[in-house]
Amino acid sequence: MCGIVARVGEGDDSTDELLVGLDNLEYRGYDSAGIAVRSDRGLDVRKRAGGIDDLRSAVAADPPRGAVGIGHTRWSTHGPPTDANAHPHTDCTGDVAVVHNGIIENYDELRDALSAAGHRFDSDTDTEVVPHLIESALADGASPAEAFRSAVDRIEGSYAVAAVVGDRDVVYAARNDSPLVVGVGDSTRYLASDVPAFLEFTDRVAYLEDGDVVRLTPDEFTVTDERGEPVDRPVETVDWDPKDTGKGGYDHYMLKEINEQPTALGRSVRGRADPEAGTVDLDGFPPGTFEGIERVHLVAMGTSYHAAMYAESLLASRGVPARAFMASEYATAPPPAEDGTLVVAISQSGETADTIAAVRAASAERTLVVTNVVGSSLTRECDDALLVRAGPEIGVAATKSFSSQVATLSLLAERLRRDVVGSPSPDAAAFLSALTALPDQVQQVVESGAAERVADSFADSEAYFFIGRGPGHAVALEGALKFKEITYEHAEGFTAAELKHGPLALVTEDTPVFAVFDGRDGDTETLGNVQEIRARGGPVVAVASGDAPDVADAVDHVLPVPATHPDLVGVLANVQLQLVAYHAAKRRGRSIDKPRNLAKSVTV
Ligand code: F6R
Repeated sequence: MCGIVARVGEGDDSTDELLVGLDNLEYRGYDSAGIAVRSDRGLDVRKRAGGIDDLRSAVAADPPRGAVGIGHTRWSTHGPPTDANAHPHTDCTGDVAVVHNGIIENYDELRDALSAAGHRFDSDTDTEVVPHLIESALADGASPAEAFRSAVDRIEGSYAVAAVVGDRDVVYAARNDSPLVVGVGDSTRYLASDVPAFLEFTDRVAYLEDGDVVRLTPDEFTVTDERGEPVDRPVETVDWDPKDTGKGGYDHYMLKEINEQPTALGRSVRGRADPEAGTVDLDGFPPGTFEGIERVHLVAMGTSYHAAMYAESLLASRGVPARAFMASEYATAPPPAEDGTLVVAISQSGETADTIAAVRAASAERTLVVTNVVGSSLTRECDDALLVRAGPEIGVAATKSFSSQVATLSLLAERLRRDVVGSPSPDAAAFLSALTALPDQVQQVVESGAAERVADSFADSEAYFFIGRGPGHAVALEGALKFKEITYEHAEGFTAAELKHGPLALVTEDTPVFAVFDGRDGDTETLGNVQEIRARGGPVVAVASGDAPDVADAVDHVLPVPATHPDLVGVLANVQLQLVAYHAAKRRGRSIDKPRNLAKSVTV
């Protein structure tokens, strides 16, 4: 987590550009922020606890002016969010400033050695050793470039680190296990944890790799690998639009991104499904790609794990043995190696440390990532990448990425079915046709207004439960996750049958239960579970397609979704639950886009 940004180039408006960059990276962490700009007063460092707006107000009266600068938005790992712990950190001379994302594992021992040599530390952070290491190397006669590399060579752990050293128009940076991207403007070079940081200034990017050290000047960037050998990192043009990273008139990114789902889903599916022929056409994955695969392990965290659970059901019902694993568990205890295993990592950001660790721990023949971010760490870590094409997601609570992940995994499930079982699924044409119709149906759900009314009806409840079966179970867990992370209320998801084995003890008239009905055989059993809840006074909200009349009579409220293929009802139901969580959080005045204690990319 944490976001870093740097710029070196024309003009003296680094402060403005760095603040724009930090605004666009705030989803990565938002407990403190800072910038260092090389101005005619020397290195001018401004930093403080709080968000980017607090920093902006603090510099407004007298912004540092200069052509070179670095910036940081923090999600604390070492030390609480205070002014002193905010980045950038400096050396004793005040000539070196550093921003860092990641964890320096050997910082204790480096700090002891530097302290013994007379260096004074002002913060509790691991990062602060870096400017002092650079200072120490400079004092030994190293050039700034040599000093930066020698500091990088001495730190262990995960890092994306950027530094301004002395009075030159140069930014130095390095990456290991934390993302870093170079932006190439006309006479300005940018650097950031993620492309949206500088998308307003340039759409030309170069993705750095682990071990890379980069030197940026206004006119060029040069990269050396971990051995110090020059390497080429090609410049590509990204097809994201800068306006995709703004709020577009909505109160919150989350609401904007919920409303973007029809477009995002359209992009995920367009050109990839031929309903008439009942076939999928996935670029880079022609028929036969997965011949020899016997089972699929899906690894992911959080919302992406719920997409993995959803995909497990889709694959299983297509005769492809599949199992979803929480990536962190897979990483610590991977299942025994078996020939014919495909590991599919699912990650919006492509940067989640637990998911990267799972892929590294996997002894699978093949690995594939389903991700939203071109050039992300997992695209380099895995043998293949399949893009979900949801567009930039800024709200910390994942919304459109889930829908697009499920749509993309639906296509992958059909491709795997064809290659593993040897024939398309019997209802492939109907399924793909429903997938193609999904964007319009999601549009109907976002326009319905039913979720806001339900959120208002249960404004003062004690706890909120979510139940479902098969893909509906994945949606129940996702509904509960969304609700708890942005409302801060107690919310839990269960399989519908699980309730009577314990959780039913929690059900009272103050605990609404959201039940997902997906038009499959299991709906009858879920209806039975609903009656058990109502017999104990628990109010029930069914999330169900309008063609399930028995449901309406048995519950207190219905959040309707349009009729579709049973495999896809969950996507529509999930949109209703996203809206319930959003309106419940809004009523409570929560920080919807930046919930407390969280960050979007969990890179540690
Ligand atoms: C929840 C949320 C997180 C992420 C999780 C994995 O709304 O956003 O639970 O889903 O941290 O992130 P990615 O998908 O980037 O690997």
